Amino acid sequence: MPFITFEGIDGCGKSTQIEMLKSYLEKKSVKFSIFREPGGTDIGEQIRQTLLDKNNSDMSAKTEFFLYVASRAQLVEREIRPRLNMGEFVILDRYVDSSVAYQGFGRELGKRMVILINEFATDMLYPDLTFYLEIDEKTFKERRQLSGDRIEAEGWQFMKRVIKGYEFLSKSKRFVKIDSRLNPDRIFKCIIKEIESHFSV
Ligand code: TYD
Repeated sequence: MPFITFEGIDGCGKSTQIEMLKSYLEKKSVKFSIFREPGGTDIGEQIRQTLLDKNNSDMSAKTEFFLYVASRAQLVEREIRPRLNMGEFVILDRYVDSSVAYQGFGRELGKRMVILINEFATDMLYPDLTFYLEIDEKTFKERRQLSGDRIEAEGWQFMKRVIKGYEFLSKSKRFVKIDSRLNPDRIFKCIIKEIESHFSV
């Protein structure tokens, strides 16, 4: 069954689109589930707190990476696979691509190991479709929330590397790149067009 992920750097507008998709699927009476990463399970939410805690600024890049992967392994095994097997539509706010972009490129751990370890953690479960909401420097700076968590405080140099990571990933066939400066209704139209052309909803 359909497995759809949303990706993009902080402030790209993923949450708005996921909310819109939720209403759309509800209207269509489609059975679906939405999860976010890190998190989505009890254990995953505990890992999320550790990851986003500003007091943990001493965390090494590898530790951070394995915590994201641990949260993901739990989510895939306990929630995503069973639901896909029951024929549900699963929507996920961030997935393996976030690890590749943020840890592989942003933290410079390298894409090879990041992909390999994620494939082990997820037993090679890849999404059918990934919506990447692309954001440029100016828009990013405008939208940046100064309240920021640990990662948001990393600043633009880090984000530039993350964007490079997403550029690399967006060559994949399942990636649908959308300009996040378009208004939310237009973005949503693109998303629905893609979904309807791939699945019967
Ligand atoms: P969150 O507050 O959920 O941000 P957003 O609304 O942008 O998704 O925080 C998640 C943060 O974790 C975000 O900065 C991206 C980062 N992240 C990684 O670095 N690696 C990962 O594998 C995942 C899933 C998230």
